[in-house]
Amino acid sequence: MSTVRIVPAEAFDFCSDSIAADKSISHRSAMFATLAEGESIVRNYLRGEDTMNTLRIVKALGAEVTDDGETIRIVSQGIREPEDVLDCGNSGTGMRLFCGLLASADGHFVLSGDAYLRRRPMKRVTAPLRAIGAVLDGRQNGELAPLSIRGGSLKAFDYKSPVASAQVKSAMILAALHADGPCYFEEPELSRDHTERMLSGMGAHVRTVDLRTEIHPVQGLLKPLDIRIPADPSSAFFFAVAAAIVPGSRAVIEGITLNPTRIEAFRILERMGADITYTTTEDRYEPIGDITVCHAPLRAVTVEENIAWLIDELPALSIAMACAEGTSIVNNAQELRVKESDRISTVVRNLQRCGIDVEEKDDGYRITGGELKSATVDSHGDHRIAMSFIVAGLVCGMEVTDVECIQTSFPNFFELLSQMTEVVRED
Ligand code: S3P
Repeated sequence: MSTVRIVPAEAFDFCSDSIAADKSISHRSAMFATLAEGESIVRNYLRGEDTMNTLRIVKALGAEVTDDGETIRIVSQGIREPEDVLDCGNSGTGMRLFCGLLASADGHFVLSGDAYLRRRPMKRVTAPLRAIGAVLDGRQNGELAPLSIRGGSLKAFDYKSPVASAQVKSAMILAALHADGPCYFEEPELSRDHTERMLSGMGAHVRTVDLRTEIHPVQGLLKPLDIRIPADPSSAFFFAVAAAIVPGSRAVIEGITLNPTRIEAFRILERMGADITYTTTEDRYEPIGDITVCHAPLRAVTVEENIAWLIDELPALSIAMACAEGTSIVNNAQELRVKESDRISTVVRNLQRCGIDVEEKDDGYRITGGELKSATVDSHGDHRIAMSFIVAGLVCGMEVTDVECIQTSFPNFFELLSQMTEVVRED
């Protein structure tokens, strides 16, 4: 289990066009290429553990994948029954989206993953898929992986999801592409919409009005993808918070998706007082551009709307809240409890170790800004908890244990961080 020690940083001016590529879009580009006719071209694919597992699964399902280190080319041969269990590693996105993709494919498939993923709830996808005729099972009657799928025919549906989850929405949209009629999916709040944008770009009929998405089954195959994956706002946000909390600092992040369902955390940081500008440079599948964040004194904020738009950034935002003046409140974020760790509990416990006054609630927390103190905190195997507390270390110094998990989403995190401070690794 490796540990890092972070030394407090002086004011920095950071500019990068090599923040990790977007994880959500990378997973989808590999998976959706299996639905296309001809060669899909994917540049800047995220080479993190989660998305490399997805690429291996796509290969195991019969796609021809070539990779020259820069560009990945994927030619689908239709979905073939794999010879072995499909290992999603740590990735809930991988497992849940593959459930939807494979529910109608010819064959038998078993999805598994690491000890953390095997504890995460899967009924949110297995139940609605079973309701439309999918043959799916798993431990605790389909709640826990390993999951087994016997692909078959699926009935058209009109499903109202109780949870605003892009993973559930995407699994159902993928199933709908091979259902026996037009399907409708409704969610309580809009979640990230990469699946809808990408599949529409590939020629599928996927339209959303308000919170209701209509999906028509596809006849045959879709157009191949030709995509350069933008930087991941959830990864970039660690550097945004770093610039916001280290006096005199600035971070410029280039080539990042500016999809509104993904940059809400930057908007919240702006509401807290940080000086942030956005510049759109292109629009292909989604808007892409640059974000500049400059330090300014932060004030407390209440966060309770559009939670799905900032669910992955809340741990890093909690560090900004700990540095802000006043008491910040996060409400309606119970989904944090079923992420890579129970992020309400891990954020609260770790901030308390750093001397911050925090109160845990069922659906979030209250954080009163104060003086962050150096401590030893554990990631609980959760990449975003590890990176959030490393960023806190830029203010006060920090020791963070069990940091290998950062490889799941941000392989060059330490390389970029070393532009700001000294990182001592104790492997
Ligand atoms: C993701 C959706 C989110 C997010 C996850 C990636 C996706 O999960 O937390 O990191 O790519 O669809 P939920 O949709 O379950 O909230």
